[in-house]
Order: sequence, then structure tokens, then C-alpha cells
Amino acid sequence: MGQKRWGDVWRHVFVMVVVLVYLIGGATGAAPKKPVAVPFGRNYIPTWAFDHIKYFNGGSNIQLTLDNYTGTGFQSKGSYLFGHFNMQIKMVPGDSAGTVTAFYLSSQNSEHDEIDFEFLGNRTGEPYILQTNVFTGGEGNREQRIYLWFDPTKAFHSYSVLWNLHQIVFFVDDVPIRVFKNSKKLGVRFPFNQPMKIYSSLWNADDWATRGGLEKTDWTKGPFVADYKNFHIDGCQSSVDAKFCATRGKHWWDQKQYQDLDDYQWRRLRWVRRKFTIYNYCTDRKRFPTMPRECKIDRDV
Ligand SMILES: *[C@@H]1O[C@H](CO)[C@@H](O)[C@H](O)[C@H]1NC(C)=O
Ligand SMILES: *[C@@H]1O[C@H](CO)[C@@H](O)[C@H](O)[C@H]1NC(C)=O
Repeated sequence: MGQKRWGDVWRHVFVMVVVLVYLIGGATGAAPKKPVAVPFGRNYIPTWAFDHIKYFNGGSNIQLTLDNYTGTGFQSKGSYLFGHFNMQIKMVPGDSAGTVTAFYLSSQNSEHDEIDFEFLGNRTGEPYILQTNVFTGGEGNREQRIYLWFDPTKAFHSYSVLWNLHQIVFFVDDVPIRVFKNSKKLGVRFPFNQPMKIYSSLWNADDWATRGGLEKTDWTKGPFVADYKNFHIDGCQSSVDAKFCATRGKHWWDQKQYQDLDDYQWRRLRWVRRKFTIYNYCTDRKRFPTMPRECKIDRDV
């Protein structure tokens, strides 16, 4: 009897410690909130080649198709200023050389701001490349390229952008693979006043995508299909009044814990840089003899 009571007490103590560790951990952690799944039509519309998009489960899942006739794409209905933008994608399987699947935010004007994920396909069994870029005021040239630590054609993975006045973070699942800090004090423009829409597309880019354009799209392996789900958008919709969204501190993505990466996230970013980075414009001294200004405030480039 006594033995059993003590067993219960220790079990309670153990549970309490676990809960405490979880709460403390949760209070300092800064992984973006998990988006809820909503159907495509809630937030998005097709942009071009409507007949190359297929809908499943009432629009909860969609497929984009690329064939030798055309690719296709879609965009968000709303424009957003700050938020967390997420998409779950299963990339084109098999021989995807020459194809590019993109997921990006853009303000689409002449001095445009843009935040890009581009997935460059490859021959069967060869690794995809994830290329990212950031444009501010129409200026890009900030490419980074990595290999992924998993095969992106086997299952859905989430790709997301956290954007607030302090930083833009690119996430693959919950791992930060890139951060673009607000370096306004160094004279670098940061996207803050141009609302962006979210875009995605699948198209043929065999003039550059795979091994710099050496590998061409093999049309006999088509049609090429990418799967999507989870169309929730967590952003401040600003088509009406951009000023409203610029008023900070009101949304979860503006809060303190999202203004910088925490130590754990920095460690994970460093892991990506050490093990998976192929190219980083910040360290390309041939192209940029002096390091681009925004790279200087990065903690460990
Ligand atoms: C496109 O591909 C289909 C199937 O492989 C083929 O029958 C057709 O001739 C191709 N069309 C062109 C314009 O290449
Ligand atoms: C494709 O595979 C080749 C050979 O493994 C590799 O060099 C290249 O980086 C891969 N990815 C792309 C998109 O070219």
C-alpha cells in the first residue's frame, strides 16, 4: 500500500516537472504557430492555365501540372503586410530536371519587394536544390542555395516565411534556413510598407535550373506534378489600409519572441549552413568584393 502511494507521488512530481519544463521552454521558444488547414479557395485563386490545376477533397489538396504545353500558378486573393505565410508542398517526383516549383511573396510593382523559395528539380535520385532570395525596392542578387536533409518528393513538408518589422525568416518545417534582419540602420532597405501577395507556380526553366541549365527537361517523363495542401494565411490583410498593419505589437508575429531567432534556432541555422549550404551570396567575394551590408549583422557569416 505505502509503496504504491509513494509511486503515485513520484509520478505526480515527474508529471509536474515535465509540465514545468514544457511551459518554460514554450515561453522562450519562437517556432511559428502551427497553421490550421483550410481549403485552397478560401485564400487563393488560380493565376494562369486554370486547367492545369486539379482539386481534391473539396479543395483541401491541389495539384499543379506542367506539361510540354504549359505550367501553371496561383496567388492569394489578399495582400498582406507582415505575418507568417505557410504552404505544404510535395515536390515533383521522379525525373524533375528542368522544372522549378516556386513559393514566394511579392509586391509586384516596379520597386518591388519579394521573398522567394525556388525548388530546382533534378534527374531521378539526384538532389533538389532550394534557392532563396530577397528583393527590396527592386534589388535582388541575394541568392542562397541549399540541399535539403530529406527527399522533398516523398512527403509533404512545410515551407514558410515569417515577416515582421525586425526580420524575415525562411523556415523548412520548423528549421530556420535563412534570416534577413532589418538592417535599415546600415542603409539597407527592408520590406515594410509594400503589401505583398503570396504566389506559387510550377514551370519549365531548363535554361538554368538544373546543373546551371545543362540538364534539360525530359518531356517524355511528364506530365510533372506537384502536390499542395494547407492554405491558411496568417497575415495582416492590408488592401484597405497599409498603415493599420504597420501598427505593431498587435499580432503574434510581432511579439518579442519573433523579433530574433532564439539560441536553439541559431544553432539549427548554423547546422544548415555547415552541412547543406551550396552557395551564399554573403560569402561570394568574387561577385561582391566587399560583403553586402546586411550580411555584416548576421551573427556568424
Ligand atoms: C507533348 O507531349 C506529348 C506526350 O509526350 C506528345 O504526344 C506531343 O507530341 C508533345 N507536343 C509537343 C508540341 O511537343
Ligand atoms: C542535381 O544533381 C547534381 C548531381 O548530383 C548536382 O550537382 C546538382 O547540384 C543537383 N541539383 C540541381 C538543381 O542541379
